[in-house]
Amino acid sequence: MGRRPPGLRRRGLKRAAAEAAQGGVPQGLPPGAPSPRAAHRAIAFEGVTIEFGGTGQALFRAVEGADLAVAEGEFVAIVGPTGCGKSTLLNAAAGLLTPAAGQVRIFGAPLAGLNRDAGYLFQLEALMPWKTALENVAIGLEIAGTPKRAARDRARDWLRRVGLAPFADRYPHMLSGGQRKRVAMAQVLIRDPRIVLMDEPFGPLDAQTRLIMGDLLLRLWQENRKAVLFVTHDLEEAISLADRVVIMSAGPAARIIGDFPIGLARPRDISEIKLMPEFQALHRDIWHLLKSEVLKAYPDLTMRETP
Ligand SMILES: Nc1ncnc2c1ncn2[C@@H]1O[C@H](COP(=O)(O)OP(=O)(O)OP(=O)(O)O)[C@@H](O)[C@H]1O
Ligand SMILES: [Mg+2]
Repeated sequence: MGRRPPGLRRRGLKRAAAEAAQGGVPQGLPPGAPSPRAAHRAIAFEGVTIEFGGTGQALFRAVEGADLAVAEGEFVAIVGPTGCGKSTLLNAAAGLLTPAAGQVRIFGAPLAGLNRDAGYLFQLEALMPWKTALENVAIGLEIAGTPKRAARDRARDWLRRVGLAPFADRYPHMLSGGQRKRVAMAQVLIRDPRIVLMDEPFGPLDAQTRLIMGDLLLRLWQENRKAVLFVTHDLEEAISLADRVVIMSAGPAARIIGDFPIGLARPRDISEIKLMPEFQALHRDIWHLLKSEVLKAYPDLTMRETP
């Protein structure tokens, strides 16, 4: 997928950095460039604009003209400043929001209503506090009609795969933050969705737990590659995990301003990968673009000279 020689990628970067500075043409890949696997797109945003408000309230344009495709089996990370519209894009892919303009296609078909091919790991905790870890993992299958016994057997197997076999009977408040996230991951993956949407899934966790979770996620993903759209504010995490890193500009009317192929070999050990020179070069290139957008998201907090 989308690998290009480093020289070419860097030339593209320089040109695109200049273009982005002038108004936001995506950099890294030429605008509108078809992915090599365009025929197998799991998700395609086509000119997607998303607005909030209306009927008495002023319209707020959160995202403007987003073009982005995720191929089958591809892991794409979206990084951007807080409030730029990352969750909004995931919500559009999940069918929870309808674009004001443009459209979302799922495996080639325009998305109308909920995206039933997608499992969604939300930014906020979504476990049911009155159910045990096992019941939380099994509930999706049970609702979909799997007999209770079979659903619980599979849930027990998923708890084992995320390293939580001994914690099956605990309620969410009796688990650590990292353990709750592992239950939530099992809850989504047990349904074997063709697309996985993940919104800062490891956001509240400490740095070491994030690494362990990242490794676990990659291990599970490698077994049976799904199309993954993964939102994070952590550029290192994005480069460590993804096949492509997509950068959004600061909002309002946020745009996709960068699309960087990550050619690091797999399988990856994400606690080691940051030491690789290739990783550091990618980080430098992408951060160069991201930094100015991150600063724009905090206009009142950036340092100014006193008059
Ligand atoms: N239901 C809504 N009504 C009005 N505005 C909204 C709504 N949901 C989101 N927004 C606005 O849209 C913009 C994008 O929000 P979104 O939650 O997608 O940002 P984000 O990139 O996920 O941020 P973060 O990294 O902080 O999670 C923000 O300015 C937010 O205030
Ligand atoms: Mg968000």
